[in-house]
Amino acid sequence: MRKYKNLTDKQNELMEIAKGGLRRINILHGSVRSGKTWISLVLWCVWIRNMPKDAAYLMTAKTLTTLKRNCLDLLETLAGKNNFSYSISKKEGTLYGRKIYLEGVNDAGAESKIRGMTLQGAYCDEITLFTEEFFSMLLSRLSEKGAKLFGTTNPDNPNHWFKVKYIDRREELDFFLMEFLIDDNTFLDPAYVEELKKEYTGVFYKRFILGEWCSAEGLVYPMFDKALHAITEIPKSCGNEEYYISIDYGTLNPCSMGLWRLDDKSAVRIKESYYSGKAQKMLLTDEEYYERLKNLAEGFPIKCVIIDPSAASFIATIRRHGEFSVRKADNSVLDGIRVTGTLLQSGKLLIHESCEDSIREFGSYSWDGESQEDKVLKEFDHAMDDIRYFCFTVAKKRLL
Ligand SMILES: Nc1ncnc2c1ncn2[C@@H]1O[C@H](COP(=O)(O)OP(=O)(O)OP(=O)(O)O)[C@@H](O)[C@H]1O
Ligand SMILES: [Mg+2]
Repeated sequence: MRKYKNLTDKQNELMEIAKGGLRRINILHGSVRSGKTWISLVLWCVWIRNMPKDAAYLMTAKTLTTLKRNCLDLLETLAGKNNFSYSISKKEGTLYGRKIYLEGVNDAGAESKIRGMTLQGAYCDEITLFTEEFFSMLLSRLSEKGAKLFGTTNPDNPNHWFKVKYIDRREELDFFLMEFLIDDNTFLDPAYVEELKKEYTGVFYKRFILGEWCSAEGLVYPMFDKALHAITEIPKSCGNEEYYISIDYGTLNPCSMGLWRLDDKSAVRIKESYYSGKAQKMLLTDEEYYERLKNLAEGFPIKCVIIDPSAASFIATIRRHGEFSVRKADNSVLDGIRVTGTLLQSGKLLIHESCEDSIREFGSYSWDGESQEDKVLKEFDHAMDDIRYFCFTVAKKRLL
């Protein structure tokens, strides 16, 4: 086997296998930063140079922005500017003289455009983020003789359509699959790899570091340890502290608010207000909730209130009073949970022992193990939601 010094052993292995012939569908899956995108683009270049010049080719990702960020800029470096040029506004490129269409799966009109194409080759970045309909339609467009699809992905839920309908059926399909792990990538600085491994916890560690297709089961935050995270005294600030309040709004369901101190070392939940209209058998009005917000903020210079983006009426109430600046939270559930888990794991997220409702919810907040996709059980999740809003919208920028 001829070994190229500028490739990892795993990447060399793939190039060797590819010499023996590729399949109709060629997928690289596994850990983050493991060298999948890099080598798949090398393979895409090598393959395309031997394919007809007048055929149609496509490169696609969830959006054009991610396609550019993850693939096109790297492809430009790998192939050289003389061999690859592209225009995002025209949604076209030229690779070794072949015309390449560029599309984002989520971008308006992409599906109808591809529906009419006859393709020789397609390159797909992060396939698990595609819709199943888009992917199967794409395969149906690959109708030229010798047409091929190349793609990469990180693992996801084992019930994900791509795992069940394609990877698990690969024996029946004309399908090549290869797994890449983070430790296969010998070009990464070992200190960076160490740090990266610490950033992922629980199910995310299993998928993004160990490369396993696994479901999200059990507790969402198994790393929450009362002895470690529930503190009796607020530690001294390391300076430049800011104060925030995060809110998950509910009328019949509990409304949870938390007061936070954020500095360069940690995020501390100093106190909280948790009110359940159902349990108390009395619903509060937005004005009454506003009173609770004011009581919680009393004595602290609140930089901003981070709130459940769907709480339109309460957001309007806070704005009408003109005392607090309000910011709608980023409600990306999975990314928010991943970041909150990382902050807990690193000991940077602390909860004062008086925040009993949060501490109780940490002990029961669970994944829905029966679900086809990653979902949390929608119970005991109110403080969990306001904590996630704060961690993902504000704290991550300062602490990660
Ligand atoms: N052959 C190589 N030579 C030099 N650097 C490389 C090589 N392969 C990978 N790398 C480096 O490793 C990084 C990660 O590689 P790549 O982006 O291909 O990983 P990935 O498996 O696609 O990761 P993700 O799942 O996060 O998208 C690259 O940004 C690059 O810095
Ligand atoms: Mg990649």
